[in-house]
Amino acid sequence: MFNVAIVGATGAVGEELLRVIEEYEIPVKKLVPLASKRSVGVEVEFKGEKLKVKELTCEVFEEEEIDIAFFSAGGSVSAKFAPCAAEAGAVVIDNTSYFRMNPDVPLVVPEVNPEDIALWKKTGIIANPNCSTIQMVISLAPLHKEFGIKRVEVATYQAVSGAGKKGMEELFEQMRAIFNFKLDKKVEEREVFPWQIALNVIPHIDKFQDNGFTREEMKMVNETNKIMHTNFEIAPTCVRVPVLRSHSEAITIYCEKDVDVEKAKEVLENFEDIKVIDNPENNEYPMPIIATDTDYVYVGRIRKDLFNSKVLHFFNVADQLRVGAATNAVRIAKKWIEMEGK
Ligand code: A2P
Repeated sequence: MFNVAIVGATGAVGEELLRVIEEYEIPVKKLVPLASKRSVGVEVEFKGEKLKVKELTCEVFEEEEIDIAFFSAGGSVSAKFAPCAAEAGAVVIDNTSYFRMNPDVPLVVPEVNPEDIALWKKTGIIANPNCSTIQMVISLAPLHKEFGIKRVEVATYQAVSGAGKKGMEELFEQMRAIFNFKLDKKVEEREVFPWQIALNVIPHIDKFQDNGFTREEMKMVNETNKIMHTNFEIAPTCVRVPVLRSHSEAITIYCEKDVDVEKAKEVLENFEDIKVIDNPENNEYPMPIIATDTDYVYVGRIRKDLFNSKVLHFFNVADQLRVGAATNAVRIAKKWIEMEGK
């Protein structure tokens, strides 16, 4: 049995972690919800019990004898407090981008590179990848094995949950304002997105880099190759859309071998945690309303390029708060428990 801490327990991913830890039957002796000073005493629910949030400090991990610490409170919080948790003997499963590209920290999607978890001993930290990257590598892994991927082009359609509770609230507030004919005021008050998100799409997530790509796009490039131990050429365009909590991706892969649609469907269907929905004759394909609140990556619209026999196109969708964050983190914990023989 484990003492488990959730750093950021009042946030969108933190709340989802509370549910997924229970659903995945992680053997919890004690659960300690942590957040900032302003949330001290706020109650969260775990296994039907109300638990009071405590303040995150460097000492709390030792005081509470924490074995597993999930961090989901932003990069600067992880930078400061994850080393305290590791120092106190906990394994840290960090949902932020802070440690992801550190060569001493494993970056893990359990369906794709579970063996990398073994590297955790070096720093005590395991990094949880970016949400768009997680759902993409789960669908790339079986296709790479079959056809040998060389290049990936991807356009994302990312839900507002990727910007946390505040992002979800901003979309809600703007939608409410639209129905009250008061949108202008709400748009002036916006805090999270650079433009109005209701009834709009914004081709800009995270900061622009000197190379013209955004940080979110560079996460997809660098993290994909780290997780898959590959050297793919990757060209992402990350776009925020007014969807609540599932990301979609239109993906094109350029392969070494000729691609085959039936074979692609077969290897995707046989891969862990993927469901293929691809019956265009019945208007059946993956969509956010299907993926939300589930733990699967849905793949469909699988088709061969019209001009190049080595190119395959498809669409994938997954719940950002679960597959893209909480569920991946809990699957890492489950594998870690198995591997450490605890
Ligand atoms: P709090 O509610 O006390 O601010 P989201 O991603 O949905 O925005 O949630 C962010 C989570 O991270 C919240 O639980 C938030 O707690 C927590 N958090 C943010 N800043 C800090 C901080 N400096 N110390 C501890 N927790 C923090």
